[in-house]
Amino acid sequence: MTDELKKEIEGARRSFLHDLEHVQSPEQLAALRERFLSRRKGQVSLFLARLRECPPAEKPVAGQEINRFKEFVEEALAGAEAARISASAPWSDPSLPASELPVGRLHLIADIQRRIEDIFQQLGYEIATGPEVERDEYNFTLLNFPEHHPARDEQDTFFLEGHDDLLLRTHTSPMQVRYMLAHPPPLKIVSPGKAFRKDDPDATHSPCFHQVEGLLVDRGIHFSHLKGTLEAFCRSFYGPDVVLRFRPGYFPFTEPSAEVDISCFLCAGKNSDCRVCKGTGWLEILGSGMVHPQVLRNCRIDPEEYSGFAFGMGIERVAMVKYGVPDLRLLYDNDLRLLGQFG
Ligand code: PHE
Repeated sequence: MTDELKKEIEGARRSFLHDLEHVQSPEQLAALRERFLSRRKGQVSLFLARLRECPPAEKPVAGQEINRFKEFVEEALAGAEAARISASAPWSDPSLPASELPVGRLHLIADIQRRIEDIFQQLGYEIATGPEVERDEYNFTLLNFPEHHPARDEQDTFFLEGHDDLLLRTHTSPMQVRYMLAHPPPLKIVSPGKAFRKDDPDATHSPCFHQVEGLLVDRGIHFSHLKGTLEAFCRSFYGPDVVLRFRPGYFPFTEPSAEVDISCFLCAGKNSDCRVCKGTGWLEILGSGMVHPQVLRNCRIDPEEYSGFAFGMGIERVAMVKYGVPDLRLLYDNDLRLLGQFG
């Protein structure tokens, strides 16, 4: 009996070692433990159950054999478990300096957008965003674009196939309409977002670009409020010494309208070779004006009671002017050598 049991134990040991060598996962290791050490059906328990059949004289020897096998299995499993843990958690010294992690940054466009938003929020403006797919009515008609205005031309505008009245907004100004239709004055918003025009990409054009729109409507608002606001913004954004120049301009939705230039923040007009202003001393940065009375009327606001101003600036343009990005396409190339310098 003992000899027979010994042989079986030897067989079990070989089978155990074979399986242990092929264990590939913690689950397999647990299954192996279960197969050999489980109280009820484990191989060791089965051997112990057999002790009852042993002649009393052989019991102590047989018992010893089984116990030795049990210890062997336990040790081997503990060793395998320890090896697995140390392989999955390499030696570490918490006093070593941390390894360097690459740090993410905001894209320059997002960064500029947020800075502009911050400045206007400090002036009490709310941020309002709207859809990029826009109704013709909001993008053009209610903004007082005459029926045959060239900006409506298919040359400039992406229309949605099969939807005559839908387009990709060509500017962020339709948010003026949306906001005025939904909120009675007084109102004070900036609206950042994408705009789209059918332009071939070059150093200064992209079919998709970003703008920030501003709108303020209240009682007794006049041009000096627009000037003061833009001055406060530009001094905060470009530097305290910046001077603004308003030139007459034309937009169908503002009257009067003005293009705004800032004095060159790099050379202040003193360097005829300046890389930023090209020696002119001025940088064109935005379009603006007093909200046209017809636009107020279109948005159910009485122009006899209320007046307002609006402005719009291109974020890519700001990036080029302020950070000297020479080609707007660089902003869309996702090249970390450029993007890593900002944000
Ligand atoms: N929407 C105009 C543009 O895209 C900019 C603008 C906004 C002008 C608001 C005046 C007032 O060029």
